[in-house]
Amino acid sequence: MKRIGVLTSGGDAPGMNAAIRAIVRTGVAHDLEMYGIKRGYQGMIDGAIEAMDARSVSGIIHRGGTLLHTARCEAFREVEGRAAAAAQLARHGIEGLVVIGGNGSYHGAYKLCQEHGIACVGLPGTIDNDIGGTQYTIGFDTALNTAVEAIDRLRDTAASHDRIFFVEMMGRCSGFIAMYSGLAGGAEEMLVPESITVISELVDILREARARGKTSMIVVVAEGDDAGDASTIARKVREAAPEFKKTRVTVIGHLQRGGTPTAFDRVLATRMGVIGVEALLEGKSNVMTAFENNTVTLRPIADSWETYNKFDPDLFRLAKLLSV
Ligand code: F6P
Repeated sequence: MKRIGVLTSGGDAPGMNAAIRAIVRTGVAHDLEMYGIKRGYQGMIDGAIEAMDARSVSGIIHRGGTLLHTARCEAFREVEGRAAAAAQLARHGIEGLVVIGGNGSYHGAYKLCQEHGIACVGLPGTIDNDIGGTQYTIGFDTALNTAVEAIDRLRDTAASHDRIFFVEMMGRCSGFIAMYSGLAGGAEEMLVPESITVISELVDILREARARGKTSMIVVVAEGDDAGDASTIARKVREAAPEFKKTRVTVIGHLQRGGTPTAFDRVLATRMGVIGVEALLEGKSNVMTAFENNTVTLRPIADSWETYNKFDPDLFRLAKLLSV
């Protein structure tokens, strides 16, 4: 293999740049020709492909976002889209790909390999930490720390005004950020897609907390909670319990996606980037890098959608025990 392409796909995540740097420089160290593909699979279809060298990735290890830009590409879901993308890769002589992204991005890589023989390695990059096969994804730790800082700030104003804050975190299918930030921020309750939310039970919890002397409270809501988003849940609580009219809602939103990656994310991205390129050099394909028990390993890329990364359900017990 002489030429490898790298792309970022799906939602950006802090640490993606550190991964791109590691991938390009590992390739250069192995005398490979490295190419950056802009705007994910859309850029592949459009031929937005540029040569990269060690200097192309200078000064980016500490920057959030992705130097290569990213996109969610509908056209790549179709056979024709993938054929157009493969033709662009052939034009540039690219035989191997490193795809940094989430589940959807991996599906695309898998099909590209099957249909066009392009060797593909996936690096898990998403703030959601919802990729099967790996205990950590690139970007989760940074997003989590941003979320915790937000809770800390909100707690100051909540306490000052004796208010209940409903704080919405990202996570359509997974409550990792909500659960971990709630625990780290000492929230009274975390509502996540992994458990069913019953408004009457939530009201009871809030009433009991108030009876124990709590004057302000934080309820963290994952955006994908079954009872609705934070605004909906706050409204339902106000309707069920008029005494909780002093509620406020804050949606942290895309603030969680940006910012300087933590040291953990930079190191994770760096380790995964090096191992990803080395996997291609060893002739491997349709594998993903995974973080397991403090080691970066390789797993079949299909593990990302055939298994699910779940947080320890015992965290629910801990949260309940401590929110007295
Ligand atoms: O997948 C990452 C993520 O940030 C999710 O947590 C969130 O639901 C989604 O992306 C938001 O997507 P967009 O940036 O397209 O609005």
